[in-house]
Amino acid sequence: NIYHDKDADISLVQNKTVSFIGYGNQGRAQALNLRDSGVKNIIIGNQQDDYAEQARKDGFENVVTITEAVAQGDILMLLIPDEDQQTVWNEQIRSCIKPNTTLVVASGYNVAFNLLDIPEDMDVVMVAPRMIGAGVRDRYVKKIPYPCFVSVEKDSSGQALKTCLSIASAIGATRGNGAVESSCREEAGIDLFAEQAIWPEIMVIMREAYNVLHEAGFSDEAILFDMYMSKEPAEIFERAATEGIVKQLKYHSRTSQYGQLSTMNKNDGKQIREKFQNILQKNILSGNFAQKWSNQKWAAEELPKEWKVVEEAPIVQAELRVQKLMKDFIKSE
Ligand code: NAI
Repeated sequence: NIYHDKDADISLVQNKTVSFIGYGNQGRAQALNLRDSGVKNIIIGNQQDDYAEQARKDGFENVVTITEAVAQGDILMLLIPDEDQQTVWNEQIRSCIKPNTTLVVASGYNVAFNLLDIPEDMDVVMVAPRMIGAGVRDRYVKKIPYPCFVSVEKDSSGQALKTCLSIASAIGATRGNGAVESSCREEAGIDLFAEQAIWPEIMVIMREAYNVLHEAGFSDEAILFDMYMSKEPAEIFERAATEGIVKQLKYHSRTSQYGQLSTMNKNDGKQIREKFQNILQKNILSGNFAQKWSNQKWAAEELPKEWKVVEEAPIVQAELRVQKLMKDFIKSE
């Protein structure tokens, strides 16, 4: 299902008190958009940091603690990093929520994996722009549509869809092609799958391709430029987005087309499909990953360890050498 401006009644959100929890990438963009869409009662709940300062500079008069913002809000826009939401929810949000409020999330993660203890009478909706905050703001101002997922996750009032669409339209997400109906499970599942299956596999391919070519005696400059430093893959993905992942092949030489198609058609993908199914079912949709990652102490220790491993990789060392060698070219690009 796709929802357009005509499906939304913007006056619903205009008549509510909207409390932002977080004024970062998404928080700032969405608060400014709501204000310009005629929402008068906006409260910014933020810890005392540069983001709170920014909110004051942007002319918001009601910049208070998260707890105070939650206590007044009819609609709570939860826009702090996903990995901090559970702790902040338990310590600063849960006990201050008014009756019959709506929680709005911009990503599915915490709702999909049941990391938030949601009150019985609360509505829960997702309004998830597929766009960085600066893009959400910029496109709103220029009246350009942008992609967005919406969903109703919990409808205690019977009005959750109306509230969801009202907010989506007030941030400019129902313009043009409209907002796409999805779900927290789908949004978080696909996002985590891209992060844990697709992109790591692509990076392993690059790493091993470099190792094989380097061992064959080819130069680092030639290998890395041919693989990605020339930005050719960026162009390929650009065309894949507009014309299709396979159809973009028509821009390649006949030799390249034959090489790619004949190799791809011989590969039945069974091995990788099994691996991907395991990651999706056992690690992601089971909630195992979310459970582990929401342990902040564990997460804070693990990420630097992984960075340390990769810093030693031959491809990373080669990049440093080539970047130094070719810095004028890289800068001019
Ligand atoms: P961000 O990293 O810009 O968040 C910064 C904000 O969170 C600031 O207001 C800061 O004061 C607050 N904050 C950070 N740590 C905190 C803590 N421990 N306790 C209390 N407040 C804390 O966040 P971003 O990127 O705007 O993400 C917000 C939500 O939007 C997330 O659910 C994210 O998945 C979603 N989202 C983000 C997109 C993006 O472009 N970054 C795109 C679409 C959705």
